[in-house]
Amino acid sequence: MMKKYLVASLVLFCFLSIFNMACSFNNTNKNAMDTASVTTKNFGTLEGKPVTEYTLTNAAGMQVGIINYGAILTKIITKDKTGALGDVITGYESIDGYVQKGNPYFGAIIGRYANRLAKGAYKVDGVAYTAAINNNGQSLHGGLKGFDKVLWEAVVLPGDSSIQLSYVSVDGEEGYPGNLKVQVVYTLTENNSIKIEYTATTDKTTVLNLTNHAYFNLTAGKSPNIYEHIVQLNANKYTPVDSNLIPTGELLDVKGTPMDFTTPKKVGQDLDKVAGGYDHNWVLNKADGLAEIASVYEPISGRYLTVATTEPGIQFYTGNFLTGTLTGTKKGIVYNKHYALTLETQHFPDSPNQPGFPSTLLKPGETYHQTTVYSFSTK
Ligand code: BGC
Repeated sequence: MMKKYLVASLVLFCFLSIFNMACSFNNTNKNAMDTASVTTKNFGTLEGKPVTEYTLTNAAGMQVGIINYGAILTKIITKDKTGALGDVITGYESIDGYVQKGNPYFGAIIGRYANRLAKGAYKVDGVAYTAAINNNGQSLHGGLKGFDKVLWEAVVLPGDSSIQLSYVSVDGEEGYPGNLKVQVVYTLTENNSIKIEYTATTDKTTVLNLTNHAYFNLTAGKSPNIYEHIVQLNANKYTPVDSNLIPTGELLDVKGTPMDFTTPKKVGQDLDKVAGGYDHNWVLNKADGLAEIASVYEPISGRYLTVATTEPGIQFYTGNFLTGTLTGTKKGIVYNKHYALTLETQHFPDSPNQPGFPSTLLKPGETYHQTTVYSFSTK
């Protein structure tokens, strides 16, 4: 009897040891192959709730920071041509910087309506609405408390390379109809792309135009301006604006004008020929669906950024309103005029008031989809 027990225990022991070995082998293997990771950091508190910074890192060492306030991209750390890492977007050390008055939407998700609505006024199904006015008598980037100034619910998705952020904008918020459920998923891929996927649904017809407002300086702080950045935009036309930066409704040819970026051109080449600097929407040469439509090359660092989107337009803005007065900036950097540029993929500004522009209406039963991909490499 005793002998039987001994043999059984020995067999069980051997089985467990082999099982254990197999398991730890599997784990080691898994860790060696699956190197994407997410770490979290306390970024401060707001309205009594914690603000958390999620850092996604891929196997190549690229890092992307995202916070649950404004679904903001706080950092994009990529290699230059020598392999040195540097942060290529503007931002602040903590939440205090992001909530300061005059923060120009660094890295934020913009909604419900990216860019301007003339006098905030628009109609949906013949009913007049007024979006909150916050910019020279116009409504800019969603109004007084747009999607860039609210807390989102953040979840790390399986695989450790994506963060999902959700927000419910209630009926009437900032002058927009319908309860709108919005989701944004940021993914850092193994080939150094940041994919931003937006979805939204509503229970009343509303207008919707979402974008991300990251400001890029591909020198990672080595140059205080973007004059030497070489930009290319796949766009034969742009939407000219009036003195309030509201589109006139025309689509003008870029050919032979300072707006022509159809072949790569230094930002500084024609910048002073454009009153106030570049702050316009370009009409992308593309059909429906995801397509690569813009690139930026910075020769000193060798960094190369390409932009692909499903959207019909892009706001190329050269940081004309940066004044060097923002506090709590990363490493104390002074963000002066033209320090960085934005490439905001979007529907055209003021579309609800422009019958000739693609529609920005979202109806109950429909799902809004937008995808934009920022891809980094060197050359
Ligand atoms: C607008 C600028 C505005 C900036 C906010 C851009 O999208 O086109 O006019 O000043 O955002 O910082």
